[in-house]
Amino acid sequence: MASDKVQFVARPGGKLTGSLRVPGDKSISHRSLMLGSLAEGTTEVSGFLEGEDSLATLNAFRQMGVSIDGPHDGRLVIQGVGMHGLKAPQAALDLGNSGTAMRLMAGLMAGQGMEVTVIGDESLSRRPMKRVTDPLAKMGASIDTTETGTPPLQIHAADALNGIDYDMPVASAQVKSCLLLAGLYAQGKTCVTEPAPTRDHTERMLQGFGYAVQRDGSRVCVEGGGKLSACNIDVPADISSAAFFLVGASIAPNSDLTLQHVGMNPTRDGVINILRLMGADITVMNEREVGGEPVADLRVRSAALKGIRIPEDQVPLAIDEFPVLFVAAACAEGETVLTGAEELRVKESDRIQVMADGLHTLGVDARPTADGIVIQGGAIGGGRVDSHGDHRIAMAFTMAALRAQGDIVIDDCANVNTSFPRFVELAAGVGSRVEVSNG
Ligand code: S3P
Repeated sequence: MASDKVQFVARPGGKLTGSLRVPGDKSISHRSLMLGSLAEGTTEVSGFLEGEDSLATLNAFRQMGVSIDGPHDGRLVIQGVGMHGLKAPQAALDLGNSGTAMRLMAGLMAGQGMEVTVIGDESLSRRPMKRVTDPLAKMGASIDTTETGTPPLQIHAADALNGIDYDMPVASAQVKSCLLLAGLYAQGKTCVTEPAPTRDHTERMLQGFGYAVQRDGSRVCVEGGGKLSACNIDVPADISSAAFFLVGASIAPNSDLTLQHVGMNPTRDGVINILRLMGADITVMNEREVGGEPVADLRVRSAALKGIRIPEDQVPLAIDEFPVLFVAAACAEGETVLTGAEELRVKESDRIQVMADGLHTLGVDARPTADGIVIQGGAIGGGRVDSHGDHRIAMAFTMAALRAQGDIVIDDCANVNTSFPRFVELAAGVGSRVEVSNG
């Protein structure tokens, strides 16, 4: 079956019950490879996400001479080559669908003194890269994009980078992380100030590898010229993947589902805060800390949701969860209003437009705005929707079927494998009536 022909059929109804552990956190999986490869010593990773995005990062480091064993059942053993031990790759690094890989690698590669070409798939090739190449140029890096600022990236061997003090115009963990990684190779200090808190996995993991990171309010700095010491990483389950089930179990009557070992980093928990404001019944259990990241089990039971105005300070903390939060809004009583979320238009798809189009097809009143959406809760019909190759759109509409009146047929679902391998099997195992169809 051609990859754009993978189609899901989600039959209406069902409830979600039992317990499941969703795959490992994508953000942490990428970073474990990057820091593990540059460290001195052997880094062992467990819970690694065996999805296409993180596997693209893994292949990129193999192309640069890093010996990585695995993944075997989420386990990796990385033989770190040290800060200056990467070898120039013989071919372009293909990062597939992953914006995170491309933006973080741009920073990490800028100071290596190598010529490298970095490419991606059709969706990644449309995504904005100037947000990283402009500040990297200020550090002395030399990186070409297309005229419109999109991939491929041609990274040239530059003279030494210099540290900068950068005020980020967008709240982006990818931009922040890119500059901090470049900062490891820069002379002096590199500081990034964020307009709102964004995920801080890079900062936490750098410290786990023994690299000093200074934080002062919204400003975070690293001093160039240090080294990383190998450590072991236990990757928690991805809260962004758990989010589909948090919404699914909230909207499907008689559901009672436990999600195990979920990463609960406070820069990622917006989906729980927003769902609770909507009236969701989520209990946080067994809170613990694993390798510098908070983790918990989450029990979620069905609840009558109500529409809300989503607080703008929650937007960066739930940035990847909006497709499925729009499904929650469609099932809620009353109106849900999202503002301050223009970033959703430049994700793997234009998530505001693509979700609005799909919700319309299902008979939901969803009005896109420049920076958000207004959704009236009501009945969800059946129909055929297009995910536009965006993994999170495909999984969001799968959950919508739990409350739909007819089948929801979802086109172009192959990219679910970028972040959530075995999604259909795991979802069906807890009560979703989804299956892969032959189109
Ligand atoms: C990510 C940061 C977010 C998020 C992406 C993963 C990361 O992007 O959408 O899926 O791992 O740093 P932005 O920081 O650009 O919003």
